Amino acid sequence: MSRAARLAIAMSVVLLLAATAGLACDETVDGRTSLTAATGGGATTGGGAKISLPAPQPDGPVSVEKAIQGRRSVREYSEEPLTLVELGRLLWAAQGVTSDRGGRAAPSAGGTYPLEVYAAAAMVTGLRPGVYHYLPQEHALEMLSAVDIRGRLMEASLGQACVGDGAVDIIIAAVYERTTERYGERGVRYVHLEAGHAAQNLCLQAVALGLGAVTVGAFSDEQVQSAAGLPAGEQPLYVIPVGRPSAD
Ligand SMILES: Cc1cc2nc3c(=O)[nH]c(=O)nc-3n(C[C@H](O)[C@H](O)[C@H](O)COP(=O)(O)O)c2cc1C
Repeated sequence: MSRAARLAIAMSVVLLLAATAGLACDETVDGRTSLTAATGGGATTGGGAKISLPAPQPDGPVSVEKAIQGRRSVREYSEEPLTLVELGRLLWAAQGVTSDRGGRAAPSAGGTYPLEVYAAAAMVTGLRPGVYHYLPQEHALEMLSAVDIRGRLMEASLGQACVGDGAVDIIIAAVYERTTERYGERGVRYVHLEAGHAAQNLCLQAVALGLGAVTVGAFSDEQVQSAAGLPAGEQPLYVIPVGRPSAD
C-alpha cells in the first residue's frame, strides 16, 4: 500500500476516534472557542491574560550558516523545560515585528500578514501550561486557555509522538482572506509560501538556541482547530513541536 493511502486511512481512523470521543468546544462571543478538556473537566478559559515576553535579542553566537547547516528535524526531546526567553525568541523569529513600520521577521505578500501564531505550552519555565496567542506588535502572549493540549494535538497529528513530547507546540495558522482579498486565488499560494518562511525562521532559531524542532504538516485541520480553540476562519498550517533534544 502506498504511503499516501496509509496516511489517508490513518487520518480516517483519527477523525472517527475524535467524533466518538465527543471533544467539547464552546463558541464564545468573540468568535474564539473556549476550551474544555478532552476529558470534560472544569472551566479552562485563560481569561485573555497578557504575558510580556523578554525583549528579543539581535545578537547570538550562531551564524546563519551554522544554523542552516545544523538544522535537522528533531523528534525526540528531553523533559527539560524551555525558558520564556527561548520561547520569545522562537516566536519573534517566526512573526516578530522587526521594523518601526511594522515589518515582520518573515516576508509577506503585500504586507498582508495572514499568519497567526500560537504556542501550546507545557514545559516553559514561568509559564502556566496552556494555549497562548502570540501578539507580534506587543511581543507578548495572550493566554487563551490553561489546558495542556499536546495530547489532543498529538491525536490530531495521527498520533505522532513528537507532538505530544515537545515542551511546546507552536501552531502557525492563517487567515487566507487577508491575502486573497488583494491577490485573489493566487493569494492562497502566497499564504503557504509565507508559512514556510515563518516556519524556517523558527527552525533556524531553534538550532541557534540549541533546541530541536520538526515541522509537522500531517494533521486533521478540524481537530487542531478545536484543540487550540482557533477562531473560525483561521486555518492551521503547521504544528511545530520544540524541545531540548534528547541525549540519545
Ligand atoms: C510540508 C512539510 C510537512 C511535514 N510534515 C511532517 C510530519 O507530519 N511529521 C514529521 O515527522 N515530519 C514532517 N516533516 C519533516 C520532514 O519529514 C523532514 O523535513 C524531512 O524528512 C527531511 O529531514 P530534515 O528536516 O531533517 O532535513 C514535514 C516537512 C514539511 C516541509
